[in-house]
Amino acid sequence: MKFSIIAYGDPILRKKATAIEPDEYPHIKLLVEDMFETMYAARGVGLAAPQVGLSMRLFVIDATPFDDDEPELKNFKKAFINANIIDEKGEEWPFNEGCLSIPDIREDVYRKPTIKISYYDEDWKHHEEIFSGMAARIIQHEYDHIEGKLFTDKLSPLRKRLIEKKLNDISKGIVDVDYKMKFPAAKKGR
Ligand code: NI
Repeated sequence: MKFSIIAYGDPILRKKATAIEPDEYPHIKLLVEDMFETMYAARGVGLAAPQVGLSMRLFVIDATPFDDDEPELKNFKKAFINANIIDEKGEEWPFNEGCLSIPDIREDVYRKPTIKISYYDEDWKHHEEIFSGMAARIIQHEYDHIEGKLFTDKLSPLRKRLIEKKLNDISKGIVDVDYKMKFPAAKKGR
C-alpha cells in the first residue's frame, strides 16, 4: 500500500518522533514494506515515518542509485528503527540535497562525513555501525526527519529567504509533483 507523502508546512514534520515498542507494532515489517513502496514510487532514496503521517522513529533507505560512485552501496537497503546517532566525525562536506516532502527544491547542505549509529532493524535485531559517504549522508537526512528537522533548516539566511515563497507554495500544493502528496495549506479541491 502506498502512502501519501506529507508536504512541507505540516506540523508533523516538526515533531520529534516517538520511539517504537516492539509489542505496539507487531506488523512493523508490513509498515516497512509500505514505506519502501511509497519511496520507490516517488523515486526517493530515503523516507522517514513522519513524512507519511506517522510520528515514529523509523526510516527506510535504499542507496543503490549511488552505487556507480560507491560500489559498496549496491543493495544498500535498510530500515532503521529507534535510531540514535552516537557520534558524527570529520570535516563537513556539501551535497545537493532534496526531500520528497519538499519537491522541486535542491540545495547544498553541509554535513560531517562519518557517523556512528545504533538502531534496530525490522527483525528487532540491534546494530551499532559506522557509515560514511553517501550512506551517512542519507541516514543523517532521514535521522533529521525523526528529530523534527528539515534540510532547509541548515541553509544560510540568504538561501532561506530566496526559497521562502517556493516553500510557501509547496505547503499550499502549488508545485508540480507526480506522486501522491498531502498539502497542509491546500485549498479544497487541490
Ligand atoms: Ni527528506
